[in-house]
Amino acid sequence: MPSTLLRAASRLTTPFLPDDYLTLVNPLWSTRELRGRVEAVVPETADAATVVVRPARGWPAHQAGQYVRIGVDIDGVRHSRTYSLTSPMQRADGRFTFTVKAIPDGVVSNHLVRATKPGDVLVLEPPQGEFVLPDRRPAKVLFLTGGSGITPVMGMLRSHRLADVVHILGAPTRSAVVFGAEVRSMQSPSYRLHEFHDDVSGMFTFDQLDEICPDWREREVWVCGPGPLMDAAEVHWKDAGISERLRLERFRPRLLADAGEGGEVVFAKSGTTVAAAGSTAILDAGEAAGVLMPSGCRMGICYTCVLPLKAGRVRDLRTGEVHGEEGDLVQTCISAAAGPVELDL
Ligand SMILES: Cc1cc2nc3c(=O)[nH]c(=O)nc-3n(C[C@H](O)[C@H](O)[C@H](O)COP(=O)(O)OP(=O)(O)OC[C@H]3O[C@@H](n4cnc5c(N)ncnc54)[C@H](O)[C@@H]3O)c2cc1C
Ligand code: FES
Repeated sequence: MPSTLLRAASRLTTPFLPDDYLTLVNPLWSTRELRGRVEAVVPETADAATVVVRPARGWPAHQAGQYVRIGVDIDGVRHSRTYSLTSPMQRADGRFTFTVKAIPDGVVSNHLVRATKPGDVLVLEPPQGEFVLPDRRPAKVLFLTGGSGITPVMGMLRSHRLADVVHILGAPTRSAVVFGAEVRSMQSPSYRLHEFHDDVSGMFTFDQLDEICPDWREREVWVCGPGPLMDAAEVHWKDAGISERLRLERFRPRLLADAGEGGEVVFAKSGTTVAAAGSTAILDAGEAAGVLMPSGCRMGICYTCVLPLKAGRVRDLRTGEVHGEEGDLVQTCISAAAGPVELDL
């Protein structure tokens, strides 16, 4: 909607904001936030589905491998999560897709896979992320994906014609492979797929790499999957002295399992106090206690979750470093209480 019309609408509709009326006519016409309408939810496996979204005008083009942060309202509460884009960059109809695997007890993933329907509105943030192919496409590529970690790689495979790809893919069973039929149909001399079905024939381990992909040292590598796979890949390429060839996309931050003593967390404005373990992020502790916590990526990237510290000290769950002065902004998704803590929320 042109800005002159918006200004006119603003004069006519005061004291309500024109946005309030516009979104009644069409929920995508919000001037406050970027939105998209769900047009379809397509099952992929028993617990994964692709969400097809028609974004409002102004949605920027994405690069294959990037992700989008979405806001979804569940029982009146806005939750924010991040999903890799799975549609090709060149999609002509203006829509995009992301693909979600429902995880046990996952609030948003289960809602998206099992309860979201055409017509539902999502709040969107522009695509971002560095897990992309360079402009000058590498001659030889190795993709290593586990479970839902196939999603950013699928975006790349659908967007680019690559001359020489080896794709090592893991999933619990053949039927649990997200996009299984599509990747199997793509097999050719330029795209060689190696599937590992963990529950049937065992997981991929790096001692098999020489046999599966003898020239792995010459390949540019993109890895996305469970934490242990990513950690092992990091060690493998570091030991080979070619870490610069390796790109990792983590869906969850790598946090210390045994971080130290926790403490009581006081959320001052909401009047809530919760006892939090030393390995529990303050974001998780607050949400579990019913506090409406701001959040975004939940892995230390976006800073949506920061809250001012009123008292106490916190531990960075990625490094173990204990820090905090009154007034500091604490990233609650990657920080735990290190003793009693008070936050301004
Ligand atoms: C850059 C990026 C891209 C991502 N792309 C995708 C994607 O394309 N498809 C997709 O399905 N997910 C993707 N994710 C993960 C996604 O953002 C959510 O973390 C995931 O859907 C779980 O959210 P939830 O609300 O269902 O779980 P929550 O309610 O937040 O958590 C429920 C429980 O599951 C654990 N948990 C949280 N996340 C995960 C996880 N990823 N794996 C296993 N256990 C977890 C929590 O610790 C908690 O115990 C991506 C994440 C990032 C950071
Ligand atoms: S939620 Fe993104 S940095 Fe904490």
